[in-house]
Amino acid sequence: MSAQLRLAGRTALVTGGSRGIGFGIAEAFVKEGADVMLAATNLQKLREAQERLAKAGTRVEIAEVDVSDRASCNGLVKRAIEKLGKLEILVNSAAIYIPRPFLEYAADDFDRVLKTNLYGPFHLSQAVLPHMLGLGWGRIINIASTAGKWASKNQSAYNVAKHGLVGLTRCVALETAGTGVTVNAICPGIVQTDLVDRFLQEHAEISHTTPDAIRQALLQRQSIGRFLDPSECGHLAVYLASPESDGMTGQSLLLDGGMLFV
Ligand SMILES: NC(=O)c1ccc[n+]([C@@H]2O[C@H](COP(=O)([O-])OP(=O)(O)OC[C@H]3O[C@@H](n4cnc5c(N)ncnc54)[C@H](OP(=O)(O)O)[C@@H]3O)[C@@H](O)[C@H]2O)c1
Repeated sequence: MSAQLRLAGRTALVTGGSRGIGFGIAEAFVKEGADVMLAATNLQKLREAQERLAKAGTRVEIAEVDVSDRASCNGLVKRAIEKLGKLEILVNSAAIYIPRPFLEYAADDFDRVLKTNLYGPFHLSQAVLPHMLGLGWGRIINIASTAGKWASKNQSAYNVAKHGLVGLTRCVALETAGTGVTVNAICPGIVQTDLVDRFLQEHAEISHTTPDAIRQALLQRQSIGRFLDPSECGHLAVYLASPESDGMTGQSLLLDGGMLFV
């Protein structure tokens, strides 16, 4: 692998790496020379993703994990270090999305969203940090959301979890500053993935309209006139994973296509 690649010789664990934004980030990482481990719950989807990424010629490992489970997260980090030799970059992209009007939000569903979208990154960051501190270099990249910056209707649990993730990013960044480890978040707007297809369908049901009507309304708010592509999150993640961003920590960067509030 050429030494000119920006992540040559680096090792990364990407949760939610089987699909969507996680896959887009893993793809950008392997193109820049990194060895990666993709982790998610569905083994078949992981195998398909592994096959697609293998062409880049770096090492691509896969592992099943349920990020809402602390023991599963601890086991994953241990396995990633064993398989990749060391673990320098953690991307927390795995998440679920359950939209409901606030008064209809069951406590169990609220719990599931928080356990996956906020406690998952908490467990994994705690599991990996001692190793990164030992290396004297590391990167934690949390995939938050515009939903971590402001309110949205009918998705209180998701927004609470993403606000929490922005806060976790700041706090862990402060406690690790100066160690060689940085902790930053990407806050995407609307990125065309399976999650967005489900978003359109479920919000259409809640609002008694069609998915296409919701899509058109959302497109009106995109200054760039389109939704984002997962590869665009990949480009920003490569920057955050590389030594070029050594001086940046605790940040939550909006990547939202110039979202308008109309
Ligand atoms: N798409 C957007 O517009 C958008 C906007 C802002 C923020 N985001 C954030 O970006 C991240 C990725 O979203 P996406 O759009 O790529 O979603 P997606 O297409 O639904 O992919 C979600 C990924 O997370 C994995 N996952 C879900 N629950 C898991 C669990 N308990 N343990 C391990 N893996 C789990 C899924 O794999 P399995 O199904 O196999 O478990 C899948 O790989 C999320 O954090 C999301 O909140 C997305």
